Amino acid sequence: MTSFLEDLASPQPGRGGLPARAHLHTDAPRQSLDGTWQVRRHPSPRHLTDDLDWSPIRVPGHLPLQGHGAPIYANLAYPFAVDPPHPPDDNPVADHRLEFAADTAVLAHPSVLRFEGVDGAATVWLNDVELGTLRGSRLTTEFDVTGVLRGGTNVLSVRLAQWSAHSYLEDQDMWWMPGIFRSVTLLARPDGGIRDVFVHTSYDHRDGSGTLRVEVDSSSPVTISLPAFGDLQPGETHHLRLVSPWTAETPILYDLSVRTPSESVDLRIGFRTVHVEDGVLKLNGAPLLLRGVNRHEHDPKHGRTVDLETARAELLLMRSHNINAVRTSHYPPNAAFLDLTDELGFYVMVENDLETHGFELNGWRGNPSDDPQWSDAYADRMRRTVERDKNHASVLFWSLGNESGTGANLDAIAVWAKARDPERLVHYEGDRRSIYTDVYSRMYAMTDEVERLGAGTAPSPRNLPFVLCEYAHAMGNGPGGLTEYQDLFHKYPRLAGGFIWEWVEHSLYGGTTEAGRTIELYGGDFGEKVHDGSFVVDGLVHADKTPGPALIDLARVYAPVSVEITGDTLTIVNRYHGLDLSHLDAELTIGDATSAFELPKLEAGAATTVPLEIDLTRPVTLTLRHREHGHEVAWAQHLPARPPVTLTSAVTPALAPAGTVVPAGITLGTAVFDPATGMPIRLGDLDLHDVAISLWRAPTENDRGVGWDETHLPPVADRWAAARLHDLRTRLVDVTTDGAALVVRTRSGPPIIDAGVDVTWRWTSDGTALALDLTITPYGPWPCDWARAGVDLRLDRPTTRVGWTGYGPGPQYPDTGQGARHGSWSADRDDFAVRTVRPQEHGSRRIDDATVDLGGTGLQISGVDVPITVRPWSRELITATGHDHELPEATETWISLDAAVAGVGTASCGQGVLPQYRLAPSTQHLKVVLRQS
Ligand code: GAL
Repeated sequence: MTSFLEDLASPQPGRGGLPARAHLHTDAPRQSLDGTWQVRRHPSPRHLTDDLDWSPIRVPGHLPLQGHGAPIYANLAYPFAVDPPHPPDDNPVADHRLEFAADTAVLAHPSVLRFEGVDGAATVWLNDVELGTLRGSRLTTEFDVTGVLRGGTNVLSVRLAQWSAHSYLEDQDMWWMPGIFRSVTLLARPDGGIRDVFVHTSYDHRDGSGTLRVEVDSSSPVTISLPAFGDLQPGETHHLRLVSPWTAETPILYDLSVRTPSESVDLRIGFRTVHVEDGVLKLNGAPLLLRGVNRHEHDPKHGRTVDLETARAELLLMRSHNINAVRTSHYPPNAAFLDLTDELGFYVMVENDLETHGFELNGWRGNPSDDPQWSDAYADRMRRTVERDKNHASVLFWSLGNESGTGANLDAIAVWAKARDPERLVHYEGDRRSIYTDVYSRMYAMTDEVERLGAGTAPSPRNLPFVLCEYAHAMGNGPGGLTEYQDLFHKYPRLAGGFIWEWVEHSLYGGTTEAGRTIELYGGDFGEKVHDGSFVVDGLVHADKTPGPALIDLARVYAPVSVEITGDTLTIVNRYHGLDLSHLDAELTIGDATSAFELPKLEAGAATTVPLEIDLTRPVTLTLRHREHGHEVAWAQHLPARPPVTLTSAVTPALAPAGTVVPAGITLGTAVFDPATGMPIRLGDLDLHDVAISLWRAPTENDRGVGWDETHLPPVADRWAAARLHDLRTRLVDVTTDGAALVVRTRSGPPIIDAGVDVTWRWTSDGTALALDLTITPYGPWPCDWARAGVDLRLDRPTTRVGWTGYGPGPQYPDTGQGARHGSWSADRDDFAVRTVRPQEHGSRRIDDATVDLGGTGLQISGVDVPITVRPWSRELITATGHDHELPEATETWISLDAAVAGVGTASCGQGVLPQYRLAPSTQHLKVVLRQS
């Protein structure tokens, strides 16, 4: 027998395990071994000793999240020397031990011990008998423990090393966190019971019939019954005259029972056919559009140990935001997750637990994907993936793994998966030849290429449907450009949609600050020497599963019904796969009055135009809600043109005669201006500080990325830094009057260069309010685009709330904010600012009227569609701060009033800001009225 140390360097699959099979819902007894175990930790497999003390540990759970070692976040870089198949010596080993008494019900039969997920590489002993080794961290292993399990006390020992040869196959972009992180269970296996079941179904949309074939692995006679259809023969294809098809929109499941005299197994099955026809992905004969997300399992306290209630809540949240597909990036999820996707209705791409991306950093030299010594490990992983999850209606695709280059081992598992399960589609993104896959998949392809692929003018293999297995990187403020992708998916049938990267942010909790703020940590915060910083915080929902603004935008973009009000007509396009619109209720709000609206009956895929008899001088909103679940599915809004805000009665500025010093400054109504700068310093009782022109924003994660469309250029944030966009110097040109207006002219520009902006500030007042009519005009050869163009000011008091009329409740940049609608909103300071784990620019709202509440008094801002931001910190401070919890307590308020704002794009991974959403140096106007409220 090989030693523990030798085993760790073996590229072979784990040994001793039983052949992979489905997780079945059986009436055979079972016993959970989850709970409190004991653990002791050695620094290395070369330094194993018996002298260490044991301490309690929760199973399932990760070691580093329970005080044993530290998490490591690295994207593709292996945090050890790339020397396959050898792991490093610096390799913590954790001995786990559980003493337990086996239930008599389990003891009465032969039995197996099941591990659903053990991160790392382990050897397992029961009562000092070695059962075998565990490899494939997110895959199930079962050991036969018949005759080893005994009455009285049993001792289960799991010796778990963090690193092994198999770490080279588990280079997913996530935390390295060893531990027995999924359940451990004893299962009775009655003699003559059911070892495995494989259900094959299909649906024929032409006549509504279905087929069913149930393969059963048992040594006993088997009875199969499908209540609606009676008893069926195992292994035979049964033609069922009329079945209700399963789709994500109609997740109809049938109860199937499989029995032998000693065991009963219950399955919930669905009838559906997924196939490719003329380059189009089809489900039950109709084109299928994937509105998907990539989902990692993540909890900020428990890592990849995610309980089923949380998983269900995640899926319900997805459903209520029009998401219909999940890629289980980048490993099979907790097995029971797929029961939920069957039941709730999702199209699932189950991905094998495989990634060797770190080899790319070494020119793919030594990549296991093309090295025969790893072929058994590849075959083993794919087999265990498929066998476990093969009975789920929701699973439409098997993905060979993620970012593992190319090679014979991948080719072989593709061929195997197709042969084993011809009824599902095979996916793999990393091999552009797509010889063995059923879809052509790419990640982050830019919209212009996606358009060409859709139109058939870009080369793509074998006329396959196109899937974006990852796109629109939801990191920080963004992603921008969702609409542009979706419009293409709607335009070209060959584009089958895709999966946003990614669903959930992977920050880990690190306690709370004295002020009570949750500390959220990312790569590098645990002392890692090799890490990828905040790149792990890139989700539509936060680690605690609360939605970020991008989820609200995505819901609108993914809406399965398009509604548009133009003039006095309403255009509706039904983009459901199969539903007409009868499951929806619609409401029309005109001004303040809301009434039910009769939706036309519209078949899936059809469009119609309906005349609207409405008064177009009032705002109109049409809202479509799901009748049963109450959630909003789609909406459209029409706004009448709004006149600019003007002040009626004007007062004249009190300007001192030329050449005299006016200590009190220049006054205009209740406003006072500093004659040295020409800037307002007071409005009523409010002191205004640091009023200045600004062209910069606190770089977002996307601003810091190199756009895939501009790989020859540094990130835009670096271009701004090089131009010192954050560091404008200002010169007062003159202060004059023009009738009732105070006209201040300034010139601002960054140091070093001879480009800048000429600004005309035209101020008027009605006695209380102060109106600004601002013009910003660039001069000189500007070396970069601008982030924004507007005015910053600081108040020396913190706000608690902002109330506004305008677009909300979420923020809006030119390429985001699809979910924002016009209305009256209110948000507390944090929600208005939109705080992110790593601080950055966020929270811009387009307002018509906003009140920044300063407690007893406030600042009121009025205009038409004026982008504003409100937050307690300067942009410099936000930029210099690495974590949200490090931002100081709010003592002041920074406000920006913008004439224009640049889009945010998705350059943290993918294309930058699309040309139409960039802000090239150009003349900009801002009209805004300020008053103390
Ligand atoms: C992809 C990868 C994901 C993730 C993403 C960026 O290349 O498949 O796992 O790293 O990029 O966040």
